[in-house]
Amino acid sequence: MTINRRTLLKRSALLAAALATTKQNAIAKALEQTGLKDLYKNDFYIGTAIGNARLNNPPAGFNALVAREFNAMTMENDMKWERVHPEPEKWVWDHADKFMALGEQHGMYMVGHVLVWHSQTPRWVFNDDAGQPLSREALLARMKSHIDTLAGRYRGRVHAWDVVNEAVDEDKGWRKSPWFNQIGPDFVDHAFRYAREAAPEAHLLYNDYNMHNPGKREFVVDMIKRLKKNGVSIDGVGMQGHVGLEYPDIAEFEKSIEAFAAEGVAVHITELDLDMLPVAWDHIGAEISDSFEYSDELNPYPNGLPADMEEKLAARYAEWFKLFLKHRDKIARVTFWGTGDSESWKNDFPVTGRTNYPLLFDRDYQRKPAYHAVAALKK
Ligand code: G3I
Repeated sequence: MTINRRTLLKRSALLAAALATTKQNAIAKALEQTGLKDLYKNDFYIGTAIGNARLNNPPAGFNALVAREFNAMTMENDMKWERVHPEPEKWVWDHADKFMALGEQHGMYMVGHVLVWHSQTPRWVFNDDAGQPLSREALLARMKSHIDTLAGRYRGRVHAWDVVNEAVDEDKGWRKSPWFNQIGPDFVDHAFRYAREAAPEAHLLYNDYNMHNPGKREFVVDMIKRLKKNGVSIDGVGMQGHVGLEYPDIAEFEKSIEAFAAEGVAVHITELDLDMLPVAWDHIGAEISDSFEYSDELNPYPNGLPADMEEKLAARYAEWFKLFLKHRDKIARVTFWGTGDSESWKNDFPVTGRTNYPLLFDRDYQRKPAYHAVAALKK
């Protein structure tokens, strides 16, 4: 059969159109499968925190979204002492094991949170059977045994541990926690030594909030110097990053990134979220024992964030990511404290029962304008 020139041209046009459609579909598909982790792959890890509600009962598409957007994961609550080790002889591994399995399935950078913290730690930890405070030596032994068991269980699998959390009390120096009161300031040295023994390959971090605060910055810099002088190895500092539209001053935050990096440690942004609600009194930070009474004035957007506020959120997130990109040589990871707005602790802190919008995905797990602003910096 001979094909005339006209038929040939028609067939070629059809073929070209089909190829173009296939190409467009392939591009659309690739975009669907591309997330922040891909856009930022040459800069730093992009992480999220997972709570046990999402772990055990993920909304449709949640796990796929996490795998698409993130390449690092932190367990929000279930490696904390009160959850994982609620009684002297009782360990609860279900959630932590499940978290590890989910992350490993997607080849994530796994973050353990947290080994030594004053908060969410049961009272029995600090007392003997008669309810009296343990001696320094006995409390150190208890700390070591906890770290051995928890960090030891995930040895070689947790890539970074928050070893000590929130040991500094703003401008006032050491937080007067039972760890500090019963052991002394070298509780930090011991925690890092025990963690290094239990998890030799892990990246070990000191983690805190309000790290833009000059007093805290200097204190943490001194802490790193002292640890190093004492032969204790510390790999990084976690700057939590619970920020707002008006606070903190980005220039102060930047000074802290530079100051920590100058000590030879990596900077991790460990718990990023951006509060969109009115500041309750002059409250900033993440001191979990703070709380304020609910009022409608403090909860102005119960039914959705107005467009102008979405824009402000997007612009502020872009500012933060410009800063992180500027210091990409110092920053190892940027982790959001949750994925979608409904999950965020910021709905209940420091005032319970509010509707907040601190993350990049909305309550239906759709990308918000803030997401696109962060993505656009890399396009
Ligand atoms: O799961 C229980 C639920 O069964 C119960 O009905 C409900 C009633 O109170 O409580 C639920 O547990 C709460 C849990 O969050 C899960 O929502 C706890 O009370 C509450 O204390 C816990 O708050 C967590 C907080 O740390 C204290 O551990 C937040 O989710 C978590 O985001 C927050 O994370 C901390 C970091 O670990 C350290 N840096 C600051 C950051 C924010 O505070």
